[in-house]
Formats: sequence, structure tokens, C-alpha cells
Amino acid sequence: MALLEVENLIKRFGGLVVLDNVELSLETGRIQGVIGPNGAGKTTLFNVINGIYSADGGRVVFNGRDITNKSIHAIAAAGIGRTFQVARVFNEMTLLDNMLVPTVRSSWTRGAAENRAYELLEMAQLDRLAQQPAIEISGGQKKLLEFVRTMMNDPALVLLDEPFNGISPALIEVLIEIVQQLNRREGKTFLLISHEMPHVGELCETVTVLSAGANISRGTPEEVRNDPAVIEAYLGQ
Ligand SMILES: Nc1ncnc2c1ncn2[C@@H]1O[C@H](COP(=O)(O)OP(=O)(O)O)[C@@H](O)[C@H]1O
Ligand SMILES: [Mg+2]
Repeated sequence: MALLEVENLIKRFGGLVVLDNVELSLETGRIQGVIGPNGAGKTTLFNVINGIYSADGGRVVFNGRDITNKSIHAIAAAGIGRTFQVARVFNEMTLLDNMLVPTVRSSWTRGAAENRAYELLEMAQLDRLAQQPAIEISGGQKKLLEFVRTMMNDPALVLLDEPFNGISPALIEVLIEIVQQLNRREGKTFLLISHEMPHVGELCETVTVLSAGANISRGTPEEVRNDPAVIEAYLGQ
């Protein structure tokens, strides 16, 4: 059974059809990419999956449950985490306190939460900065912080929106390493948006391509790269 199944998803903004019968299927333990030109509807797809926007048609099924149009909180509680194109962190709070925010209403003891927070901060090479306010770290480090903070909720599925955008090559390596570790060691499933094809190729077994809100291709990174429909969509930009 697929962990995530997106069926004929439709999203309109006024007269603009932004998602036009989008389909996507993701098995547990996989890392899948979503690529497509600017404005293709990638972020909107994430926003509908995680409940920021409601769908105008179609379904999102997670773990066998229909989660279409459920609240953001219900969808997060069901086990879907996400990051944003521009990281959303609490600038005035320390990195450690940022990490603890998702656990305040959980049953975790402070000690257990801190241990997990430090483990994740270490993976992100941010543990030495744990007591500093987030405003002092770089934009790329904020993206890593937001990502590992998402992991504090122990989501089964993580949606990463343009994780490689605006981060240094060194941090991209760290990020790729974390995704692979969480995937291999903890069985986490990832769906990631990117237009950085080399990194998508390094991480993803399967790539879904959207253009103007519609599915235009799906396959291995190699297959998709050579698909004339994909080449045309990117050239037409
Ligand atoms: N809240 C919104 N209201 C109106 N139009 C929107 C909104 N969000 C996104 N769009 C439009 O939907 C289209 C797809 O946007 P988006 O999903 O951000 O694309 P991508 O992430 O693939 O670059 C764009 O034309 C964008 O302008
Ligand atoms: Mg986007």
C-alpha cells in the first residue's frame, strides 16, 4: 500500500487552475522528487497535501486515511511534516528552543526532548550553536534547522520545498546526508521539490514532473531528464 496517494487533485485560485488532476503515489521508505518549471504548482501541491489550502477536487490519502481538507494540525498529527521554500524559524529563540517548540504539547519529558533535539542538531552540524538565537545563523542553516525541527514530531512523511535553494554547497552535502540517514536508519519517507536536477538525481529513485499544474512525466531521474515533454516544458520557460 502506498503511504501517500494523491488522486486527481484540483486547486483553483479564482479562474486560474493551479493543480489540474494531479496524481502522485509514494511508497513507504522512498525518496521521491517533484520537479517542474517556476509556477508549475509544486508548492501549491504541498500546501494542499498539508492542509494550508483546501482542494477543489480529488483526494489525498495518507496511510490509508482520507486526509483531504483536514486541518493543518490534524495532518501534522497524522504524521506529515514539511519545510518551506524560505525557512520559517523563531529568530529570537535559541536553536534548542526552536527544536523544543513542536514538543511542548507532547508527552515527552524535557530530558528526552532535549536528547533528540541535540541528536538532530548534531546531524545538521548545528549542535555547537544550540544556545544561540536563530537570528545569528545563515539562511542555509535556518533551512537545516527548520528541517530537523520538523523531525521532532517524528513524521512518517516529510515534504521538503526547495531544500537546496539558497544554501551553500557544503550545507547541501550535510542536508543530503541527513535525508539519507533518516531514510535508511529510521525508515522516513520523503517527497522533495527541487529544480536542482543533480541533487534530485543523487537522492531520488523516482521523479514526478509537473508543468502548468499537470503531470507531464514520471520516472527515474535519468528517464525524466531525457523525456522530450520535460525538455520542452523547461525550454518554454
Ligand atoms: N494563494 C495564491 N493565490 C493566487 N494564486 C496563487 C496562490 N498561490 C499560488 N498561486 C499561483 O499558482 C501558480 C503555481 O504556484 P506555485 O505552486 O507556487 O508554483 P511552484 O512552486 O511550482 O513554482 C502560480 O501561477 C502562482 O502565481
Ligand atoms: Mg514553489
